[in-house]
Amino acid sequence: MTFQTIIVEIEEGIATITLNRPEVLNALNDQVFKELGEAAAALSADNSVRAVIITGGNKVFAAGADISQMASSTAVDVATGDNASYRAFQILETMPKPVIAAIAGYALGGGCELTLVADVRIAADNAQFGLPEIKLGILPGAGGTQRLPRLIGAGKAKELIFSGDFIKADEALSVGLVNKVVPAEELFAEARMMAKRFASRGAIALQLAKSAVNEGLRMDLEAGLQYEHKCFSLLFATEDQKEGMRAFLEKRPAKFQGK
Ligand code: HXC
Repeated sequence: MTFQTIIVEIEEGIATITLNRPEVLNALNDQVFKELGEAAAALSADNSVRAVIITGGNKVFAAGADISQMASSTAVDVATGDNASYRAFQILETMPKPVIAAIAGYALGGGCELTLVADVRIAADNAQFGLPEIKLGILPGAGGTQRLPRLIGAGKAKELIFSGDFIKADEALSVGLVNKVVPAEELFAEARMMAKRFASRGAIALQLAKSAVNEGLRMDLEAGLQYEHKCFSLLFATEDQKEGMRAFLEKRPAKFQGK
C-alpha cells in the first residue's frame, strides 16, 4: 500500500499506520483523512492483519486538522463538503480488529480526536493532549464533543473543550484518556507487545467483543445486553470456542485459527 501522507507497514500480522507530514507536525488535511480511510478499509479486509497500530512517529502524533486548509472555508463548504474526517474515523472505529494509538508529543484537535477512535491509547511520557479548537473560534468537530465525554465523562471533557488547554500524559492517564503511559523510548515496543497479545486471541471473539462494546455504547443497557447475548451465542458456532475450551480442559495453551 503506497500513500502520500501516511506510511503503512505490515510485520508479523501487525499493521502500523504512521502519519507522515512532519513539516506541519502531521496536520491532518483532506488527503490524510482520505488515505487513512483507504488504509483502514484495506487492512480490515486483510485477514493476515490481526491488529493495527496508529502513530505519528516518535516526535509528534498530530497537531490537529490542517488550519491552512480550513482557514478560507465557508460554512457552505464545510456543510456540503464530504466530511472527510467523519468518513475516515467511521471506517477506523469500526475496523473488525483491535486498533492501538501509540502517541508521542502533541495529540491536538483532530489529532486528539483521531486517538479517540482507537480501541486503546498508549502514551509516551512526553505526550500532550488538547482540544484547542475553541481558541480558533470553532469546536472539536471530528468527534471530540461526542467521543471524549463518553470516554472520560462530560465534566472533564467540557473543561478541556471550553479551555483549549493541553494536559500532559500523566493527567491524561489519571482522567482515563489513555490506558497507559510509558517512557518515550519504549512506546513502540509497548504498542507492539499489546498488539501481539491481542493478535494471539481468537480473531472472531475479538471482533465480536469490540462490536459488543462499541455498538452497546450506542444503545440503552437492555438493548446492549441483548446484543451482547447475540454476539456471545454466535461464538459457540466457531472452532475457536471449541479449541479455547478444549485447551483449558486439557491444561494447554489454545491455538486459535480465527474460524
Ligand atoms: C497546519 C500546522 C498545524 C496545524 C502546526 N502547523 N500545527 N499547520 N495546521 N494544525 C505547522 C506550523 O504552522 C509550522 O509551520 C510547523 O507546523 C511547526 O509548528 P510550530 O507552531 O512552529 O511548532 P511549535 O512552536 O513547536 O508549536 C507546536 C504547536 C503549534 C503548539 C502544536 O504548532 C500549534 O498550536 N498548532 C496548532 C494546534 C491546533 O490549534 N490544533 C487544532 C486545529 S483545528 P511553518 O511553515 O511555520 O514551519 C482541528 C479541528 C478538527 O483540529 C476538526 C475538524 C476536522
